[in-house]
Amino acid sequence: MFLLEKLCVNYGGIKAARNVSLSLKKGACAGLAGANGAGKSTALSAAAGLISPSSGRIIFKGQEINGLPAAGRVQLGLVMVPEGRRVFPMMSVRENLLAGAYTRPGKSKPALAEIYEKFPLLKKKAGMRAGALSGGEQQILAVGRALMANPELLILDEPTMGLSPKMAAEIFEILGGLKKMGTSMLIASQETRRLETFCDFCALMRNGEIFGTHGAI
Ligand SMILES: Nc1ncnc2c1ncn2[C@@H]1O[C@H](COP(=O)(O)OP(=O)(O)OP(=O)(O)O)[C@@H](O)[C@H]1O
Ligand SMILES: [Mg+2]
Repeated sequence: MFLLEKLCVNYGGIKAARNVSLSLKKGACAGLAGANGAGKSTALSAAAGLISPSSGRIIFKGQEINGLPAAGRVQLGLVMVPEGRRVFPMMSVRENLLAGAYTRPGKSKPALAEIYEKFPLLKKKAGMRAGALSGGEQQILAVGRALMANPELLILDEPTMGLSPKMAAEIFEILGGLKKMGTSMLIASQETRRLETFCDFCALMRNGEIFGTHGAI
């Protein structure tokens, strides 16, 4: 349902992603592991439409989406939770969640009720300024906001960065629940072990390239 075919991304002279290929079946979970600067965020950002690849193809649900802007990809069901969570700090938790449903006008009320049921914490803190939440709570909010768009493929960039081991485990428990519900996921992380355990397939990146794999799809 999702394919990266020889994806290349250049920043000026820097080849940040080189021939990154990956295939993901519906309901499966793939990981991109690697150290700082490996090219993980670059590959994910290109997949989500935040940056343009210099070559290669991005295919989602049988359709090449290279030219489709990020909002169009969200509408198709491809939604990204960015590195560093990027919640809107001055807006309330509720407003952050509603912002996630901007591609689904008319559906935001039932979607919000569903998220509150899934994450009671977000309901409890609905009126709180998002910037006042802890890092872990902000990550849950960022996931909740992405789910408001009803994704078929959820792309998560470093979902446990800066979190305590306990909170990191909790985030992966949440992701495990989503996986059980059939959401496909593509997750980038420096936590190679955790990714290899969680994902059906894991690609190891270095210097913009995939140099090894773990598991199979
Ligand atoms: N906007 C940019 N302009 C120029 N170079 C960039 C830009 N963003 C990233 N790079 C470079 O591209 C390479 C890959 O960076 P990227 O952020 O994709 O790595 P990463 O694997 O996500 O690393 P991290 O684990 O630190 O998040 C690095 O060499 C980085 O310096
Ligand atoms: Mg990154």
